[in-house]
Amino acid sequence: MLARYFMLSVLAERVLSFVLPHQEILTSSSAEKDPNAILSALRHAQIIPDVLNTFSPLLSITANWSSTAKTQLGNTLPPSALTHPPDLYADKVASAYLPSDITFVLALTDPDAPSRDNPKWSQVCHWLGSLKGDSIKELVDYKPPAPPEGTGKHRYVIVVMVPANGTTEELDLEVPGERRHWGYQGERSGVREFGVRNGLKVIAANFIYAQNDKQ
Ligand SMILES: *[C@@H]1O[C@H](CO)[C@@H](O)[C@H](O)[C@H]1NC(C)=O
Ligand SMILES: *[C@@H]1O[C@H](CO)[C@@H](O)[C@H](O)[C@H]1NC(C)=O
Repeated sequence: MLARYFMLSVLAERVLSFVLPHQEILTSSSAEKDPNAILSALRHAQIIPDVLNTFSPLLSITANWSSTAKTQLGNTLPPSALTHPPDLYADKVASAYLPSDITFVLALTDPDAPSRDNPKWSQVCHWLGSLKGDSIKELVDYKPPAPPEGTGKHRYVIVVMVPANGTTEELDLEVPGERRHWGYQGERSGVREFGVRNGLKVIAANFIYAQNDKQ
């Protein structure tokens, strides 16, 4: 179960070591493979700067909860489609070198809790894990997105990070103390603070919107 949603397959180049040769690979749209289009979608949704600083996309990341429910840089999915952890797929979008045994850190975060206008609990950590070779660690287990009634659309952001110094040594990651604010201080604190404290840099992101049926 845990291994299932960490299945990262890579097109073209073996940037991740955990390649499943016969795994069907999700085709992402051309926009999702264009670093400038990725950044522009994240800025348009104000994920940059609310959640992330500007970064250089090295991978496109796609999370899919079923064959039809997947991240497409800002599509809207019903919470009922998000009740179990997604599978994750990555394609290389830039020609940077990533050692095959580097640690990938993957996160799902909600900057809009309880609402985008009133993010007093934000960010909420919905899931956090790491992948090194075929070794998988779950740091915070998957909490299905469940935006409360009447709180509008929440942004759910998938983020991939690697050690900023490129080390392939084991990381001793600091596990967030709680989901709200990821245990840090201040509105919308979360994955950015976690990245800084753990010496990580962002290399990929994707997102969906989801809202409660009752608005
Ligand atoms: C994600 O999509 C792939 C390819 O269509 C499919 O095999 C897989 O079952 C999907 N993942 C989930 C969690 O449904
Ligand atoms: C690289 O970064 C990691 C994670 O922050 C740290 O544990 C390690 O000591 C650093 N290594 C070097 C050589 O700077």
